Order: sequence, then structure tokens, then C-alpha cells
Amino acid sequence: MTLRSAQWYAGDARNAYIHRAWMRRGVPGDAFDRPQIAIANTASDLTPCNAHLTEVAASVRNGVLEAGGTPLELPVVSLGETQVRPTAMLWRNMAAMATEEMLRANPVDGVVLLGGCDKTIPSLLMAAASVDLPAVVVPGGPMLTGTFRGVPLGCGTDVWRLSEEVRAGTLSEEAFTRSESSMIRSRGHCNTMGTASTMALVAEALGTVVPGVAGTPAPDSRLLEAAHGTGRLAVEMITADRRPSTFLTRASFTNAIVALAAIGGSTNAVVHLLAIAGRLGIELTLDDFDRIGSSVPVLVDLQPAGRFLMEDFHRAGGLLAVLREVRDLLDPTALTVTGKPLVDSLDDAPIWDPEVIRTRAEPLVAAGGIAVLRGNLAPTGAVVKPAAASPHLLRHRGRAVVFDSIEDFHARIDDPDLDVDADSVLVLRGCGPRGYPGMPEVSNMPLPKKLLEQGVRDMVRVCDGRMSGTAYGTVVLHVTPEAAAGGPLALVRTGDVVSLDVAARRIDVEVPDDELARRAPDPATVAAFADPRRGWERLYVDHVLQADTGADLDFLLGSSGSAVSRESH
Ligand code: FES
Ligand code: MG
Repeated sequence: MTLRSAQWYAGDARNAYIHRAWMRRGVPGDAFDRPQIAIANTASDLTPCNAHLTEVAASVRNGVLEAGGTPLELPVVSLGETQVRPTAMLWRNMAAMATEEMLRANPVDGVVLLGGCDKTIPSLLMAAASVDLPAVVVPGGPMLTGTFRGVPLGCGTDVWRLSEEVRAGTLSEEAFTRSESSMIRSRGHCNTMGTASTMALVAEALGTVVPGVAGTPAPDSRLLEAAHGTGRLAVEMITADRRPSTFLTRASFTNAIVALAAIGGSTNAVVHLLAIAGRLGIELTLDDFDRIGSSVPVLVDLQPAGRFLMEDFHRAGGLLAVLREVRDLLDPTALTVTGKPLVDSLDDAPIWDPEVIRTRAEPLVAAGGIAVLRGNLAPTGAVVKPAAASPHLLRHRGRAVVFDSIEDFHARIDDPDLDVDADSVLVLRGCGPRGYPGMPEVSNMPLPKKLLEQGVRDMVRVCDGRMSGTAYGTVVLHVTPEAAAGGPLALVRTGDVVSLDVAARRIDVEVPDDELARRAPDPATVAAFADPRRGWERLYVDHVLQADTGADLDFLLGSSGSAVSRESH
């Protein structure tokens, strides 16, 4: 087998000399004849959920060396979900593009992808799909469960609960601040079933992680053991020429959609899976999520939908135990990085704690997947997660209260004079990929204070943005086309009646078509859309696609493969 890296290192010509000599620095000459394995590392002090990945990389490195490969750590663009503005999603495609280009530009034969925090695994998988070199993910794993005043704390979800306790006077400001280090107890990513946990598990369901590894807590020594084993596997994958295009197929995406529903995973996974499929040229549509996933039961009792946290999930049997319960819904032909079918891993995957992972006979929610809505408000689709919604609102009509930006929303929502009641529908626009830019997690708008005081706990909300995987409510999100891309969401006026009918898969504004066609967006609406002058934001706004196809850039769809470019000297 001729290695790709031999195009840099083989022979005794001047250029091979240059490529080898600068890499020597104590490395023996035969290191260049071996498979060169990049370790794409998203560790960063500014991505604290991934900061421990350098230790994980050291274990991968040992595995690669042991199997006769040469490990090469490649730091890649990293995104800290809670820190990066205006939203980490704006930079997902940039991280994916930079990783793709650096893998292709360098003398590497395969890659181990180290991610964790929300956007990191999606960006790494998009990159790997487009380069199509042998690739395998080691998810960094969730934090351990923290407890505060004797009660477990879930990342994200419990921030809201505690801050409400402060407002209610049952928790002091000082105790609230002290709870910070109890919530973030250890290394690792959020321990709820938010986007990070969801994407790690979905990556395993896709076949890109060694089965059984995703969900291993970050401080658990079994994670390092898995990283070591994955390093060995990466070398084997090169010998077997096991590229993403050979094992990531439509069948893999079917399994990912089933898994997403059964774990009660984040709506963000819809956008990420569509983007990954787009890189592979696999025809996956929004409707596939509804068709394949909407009737799948939720089996996992984790926050935000349920009670437990990722440490409990791992102890209870993890993803394989969940998948064994829904085995009949999986596509048995889908392969994994091991070269074997995913379903082969399910024979010995018992549920150890049926309170955390329910059996098929006793699901947490009977039908848990995502419903895809269409109508004159969302001609090309919108998403709602019925399991996270209030049953009484799944069919609802109400007067719209419209906001042109999240700042407009914050400025007016608690105004006692705002004309809003429990039946109103809160509409927020300008939050799509182009409009914000980057499609932030603002769709689950907080309810008006005066209605909260009346005991209202949920309202229908409609938005062209996303929502955090740790949030829930009757939220119609990912509305496409977004307002800033000419979508009818830009034409809704306060007082229009909006009707939602999830069973009929409809979201409409009750305005006659001809009247809607005559309307133009308000100047204030248009003024709120982003219009960046330069840099990535300009490139992004000019080229980003809508959420219904994954919000990738138009020129990044598909694959450029791993062909070696022209000489540099
Ligand atoms: Fe990093 Fe939640 S903030 S995973
Ligand atoms: Mg998030």
C-alpha cells in the first residue's frame, strides 16, 4: 500500500529531503514510512469543556505508536459554546473549513478527531467527510454530576432554576455564586442531554465512534483506555482504507435519527446531521427526521426532559443499551469505524438501571422525535419537538406579538403595558443564519414576567433561530426561509392570528395569500438584519444556506477529497 504521506516523504529528491528534515528533530528516519495519523485536537483554555483533550490526545498517541503509526497532534479551531459571540454556530462552518483544509494540506493519512463542546464534533465530522481520509472520533465526555445543598445540578438547565430561586428570595446571592463550582464539578462537557451529549451519542450512532465509548465521563479512566484503543484502530483503518465514504451512508443517518429520538436529544442535531450529510452528498432532508424519528419513543430520563444526568446514563448502560431497545428500527446494514455493523455491538448491551434508561415497554415519552411543520409561515419547513412541548398548546391559535430582534424582545417583554396574554404567540425574527448572523439559541424566549406571575409556564413561540439543547417549551424553531432571506416570517404583524397544528404539521398566519403577497417588511424589521462589512461574517452572510439544509456555506457542500496539492517548493 502506498501511503498518501509518501507524496511528501518518499524518495531522495530534494523536496522529500526538505519535508523529512524539518520534521526530524529526534524522530527516527523510519517514522516517515509509517501511517501518519493526525490528532485533530480542539483543546483550548477558551473551550473549557474540551481543555482536557490534550491528555486524551496523549493516550491516542500511545495507541498510534503501538500499532506502528506516527501520531501528529494538530490543534484546530475550537469553539467554547458559552463564551463565543455572537454565537458559536456562526463559527461552526469556519472551524469545519479550517480543519478540512489543514488535513488536506498536510502530510497525513488519517485522523483521530477529539471534540466535546457543542459545535466541535459537528465541525470535525463535516471536515472529515469533505476530506474523506480514514477518520474516527473520540468524544471528550461529559462532566461528573455536581451536587449543591444535597441535590444534583444539571449544567444549563439548573442555572435557570437557581436564578429563579434568587428572585423568589429562597436562595441568597452568595449561595448562588457558590453553586457555580458545584455545577461545573469536573473536566468535560455539559452533563445534561444538551447538544454536546447529543452529538457525541449521535456520532456513535452514525458509526464514527468506537461503539460503547460515547458518553464515558471525561474524568473516567475508561475514556483514556478508549482513546488508546482508538489510536490503534486509526492505523488499522488506513491499512483497510476505511474512509468516511465507505461507512457513512444513508443507513448510518437512519440510525442517527432513531438514536436522536430515543435519547430525547437536542434539536440542534437536526441542523448538524443535515450539514454532515451535505458534505457526503447523501440526500437527507428535514422530512426524513419526521418520517424516521417522530414515532420513536424517548427512553432516556435525562435533564432537561427528565431527571438524571450523563454520569447516570453511562452507569445505566449508555447508548448501546438504548439502541438495543429500538434495534428493530435500526438499519442493520450500517457499518462503523470498526468495519462491522453497528447492530453487532448490541447483543451484549443490557440496561443496568431501568429508571435512567427505560425499556421499550415503559418509555418516558411514547413518541419523541422531531415534527417538521410547513405552512405559509414556513414554506420550506420548521421544527418542533413535541416531547418538549405542552400538550395543550400543540394545537393553538393566538394573536402574534412580534419582535424584530432579541434586543427588541428584551426591551419590551417585561413591560407591564405590553398587550400580551397567555394565548398570544410570541414571534421573534432576524435570528436565522443570515439575519443574526449565525442562528443563535434564542428561540425559547423567556415568558413575560406578568404572565409568569399569573402562573403561565409555557406559550407558543415561533422563531427562525435555534434553541439550546438544555431548553424546552412549545417552540417552533428553525423557521425557513428565515426573515432575512425573504421568508414570510418578516411579514407578520403584531395582532395577526398565528395557528399551530402539530398533528397536521402546520404553522400558518391567518392572513389571505394575496394580502401577504402585498405586504413588504417593515423598515425596522430590515434594519435589524445583520449587514457585516468584512471578514468571516461577510463571507458567511453571503453564502450561508438555510437551516432546512444544514446551514452550511453553499461552496462547502460536498467533498474535495484528499488529493495532494502542488509542491510548495
Ligand atoms: Fe460546552 Fe455545554 S458549554 S458543552
Ligand atoms: Mg448551545
